[in-house]
Amino acid sequence: MSETIDKLRTDHRNLARLMDIIAREVRVFEAGDLPDYDLVASILDYTQNYPDRYHHPLEDRVLAKLRQRDPDIATTVGDLDQEHEKLGTLTRRFAAALDNVMQDAELPRDGFVEVASEYLDFQRRHMQMEEVLFFPAALRALSDDDWRELATDAPPADDPLFGGTDAQGKYDALLEEIMKWSKPQDTASFA
Ligand SMILES: [Fe+2]
Ligand SMILES: [Fe+2]
Repeated sequence: MSETIDKLRTDHRNLARLMDIIAREVRVFEAGDLPDYDLVASILDYTQNYPDRYHHPLEDRVLAKLRQRDPDIATTVGDLDQEHEKLGTLTRRFAAALDNVMQDAELPRDGFVEVASEYLDFQRRHMQMEEVLFFPAALRALSDDDWRELATDAPPADDPLFGGTDAQGKYDALLEEIMKWSKPQDTASFA
């Protein structure tokens, strides 16, 4: 078993909880009520500070190693690295739409829901594919030495939200919400 894959799977469980919170707030918005915009903004901020900076680059490294060890299998997981770039683009687009909607109540509601849904769908599909195809393929193809090399080249990064390293309390409100609403069974699909 690889500690790198364990870490990536833990990140996915955490991200799945955050996606559930976003989905809930988008439903509130769709129903014509006032969602907790700050909460959604905080989640998007976090995804740009931790997953985009550490989780996806680490997966890119694992993919590069998989391409060396088993190029045929590597093709079956598709262009993961390009998906990470697209995910970054969708996140920035969603964050911009959120900014607009927070500042201008006249923004078409459908447009915001569409941008949010595309982000959520892509994020969830991407993680699902990694869980089902990418991680098992990497676990089969990479050697213990490969995993050791990856762990040395990309040492574990501090997770400011789930790792308890948020010294400035930037994510306090978000963490409180996670504790309040996210039950373990919400993330059963990645268990
Ligand atoms: Fe990924
Ligand atoms: Fe991932």
